[in-house]
Amino acid sequence: MTSRVLVVDDEPDMVENCARILKKAGYQCLTATDPHAALALVEAERPDLLLTDLKMPGMDGMELLRRARDVDPALPVILLTAFATIESAVTAIKDGAFDYLPKNFSLDQLRMAVERGLRQRELELENRNLREQLQGTLGFENILGRSAAMARVFELVRKAARSDANILVRGESGTGKELVARAVHANSPRAAQPFVPVDCASLPEQLLESELFGHEKGAFTGAVKSKRGLMEVADRGTLFLDEIAEMPLPLQVKLLRALQERQLRRVGGTSLVDVDVRVVSATNRDLREAVTRGQFREELYYRVNVIEIQLPPLRERAGDVRLLAHAFLKRYGHERVRAFDEAVLEALEAYAWPGNVRELQNVVERACALADRDRVTRADLPEYLVRGGRTVLAAPTAAAPTAPAVAEAGLPLKEAKEKWMQVLEASYLRELLEQHGGNISAAAKAAGIDRKTFHRLINKYQIRG
Ligand SMILES: Nc1ncnc2c1ncn2[C@@H]1O[C@H](COP(=O)(O)OP(=O)(O)OP(=O)(O)O)[C@@H](O)[C@H]1O
Ligand SMILES: [Mg+2]
Repeated sequence: MTSRVLVVDDEPDMVENCARILKKAGYQCLTATDPHAALALVEAERPDLLLTDLKMPGMDGMELLRRARDVDPALPVILLTAFATIESAVTAIKDGAFDYLPKNFSLDQLRMAVERGLRQRELELENRNLREQLQGTLGFENILGRSAAMARVFELVRKAARSDANILVRGESGTGKELVARAVHANSPRAAQPFVPVDCASLPEQLLESELFGHEKGAFTGAVKSKRGLMEVADRGTLFLDEIAEMPLPLQVKLLRALQERQLRRVGGTSLVDVDVRVVSATNRDLREAVTRGQFREELYYRVNVIEIQLPPLRERAGDVRLLAHAFLKRYGHERVRAFDEAVLEALEAYAWPGNVRELQNVVERACALADRDRVTRADLPEYLVRGGRTVLAAPTAAAPTAPAVAEAGLPLKEAKEKWMQVLEASYLRELLEQHGGNISAAAKAAGIDRKTFHRLINKYQIRG
């Protein structure tokens, strides 16, 4: 199909001239000498490219650009002007113009600009199509990402969702494991049935057991009524076992049996109850290794890990930091804060994000709250993120800082002390974890802090259990 170019200028000669050249080059041309008429043409005819004068009575080219883009966001716009100053060109491009031509353009200049604009539109539409295929049909709109690493995840989630296989979602803290688990459910044949999350790390063994399997009246002190467990609640739906690596061994055995036999016995009960659940589990630990260490039952490992979805850490998703930052700005800026200084985006991109998407979300929320005007500036970022010292602490592969590295960074004593404390903290945690064979609950107990805090700290220093 021939591409259609809409030419707009208040001087009829100019319109004629352009139209003639473009027709010769094989394009169809629509013309207007009035910007309002031009806008009507954009709406009615849907041209592929808009070539417009900048200075026109009634509505200038920039205004026309904005309003035309409201109608068709993928419309490339080339501006023509008699006053070709660099400055206005830059502003125009920043405001969304695709290109900029002086009115004394050469034939080639015009033809090339139009050709490039049309190619750009094609790419844009192609991207949009892909995006819509990924999101529209699948309801993934709340999982953002356009990096190659996330494209692979989307593809896998799509395939995994339509099967009934049990899925293990792996990834560092804050990478979106729960989001993916919910997307799997929402896109599965079980979507109309319940999605039931269980946090295996939050409860002591006995409580977790009765949460999961339910109990009969009188099964233990306080069991005044019988109660269905979450596994029964999830019948015909999806059971989400979060932090599955933290499930105590005796419970692992019971869970395995229930999954194998598709039946369970409530605590204190005698009869068997039928259950049909699909299990999606999540962990930030290496479950294979936990099996080797004897902390996780091998048969259960194979049972829950039929398909494994590994979420990449944020620092390995090129391009996604900007995309996510803007999405969170929209959410937390409440129409008041609308933009980032480029320096802010650069700082965000340079940072290693040990806490991944959740950390980025928190940083943007905080920055929006602190921003004085309608833009986020570097001053609204936490210090560790903008200061040079950051590289010592947050280098993705360097894991925890070392004493010599702190000295080398040439920091003032007060800051150096802070870093040294972190060095100490990191090696303390690593030692303790090793002593307890990677068992986080045991190590946390020995440290006298709760599991969640311990988890947070080892994620911060990227210590692996
Ligand atoms: N790709 C993404 N797009 C948009 N928001 C995201 C994305 N990934 C994560 N988030 C947001 O980041 C936060 C953390 O995500 P989620 O709870 O799924 O992570 P997690 O991997 O389960 O973390 P943890 O291991 O700490 O439980 C949530 O608020 C979630 O909505
Ligand atoms: Mg989670």
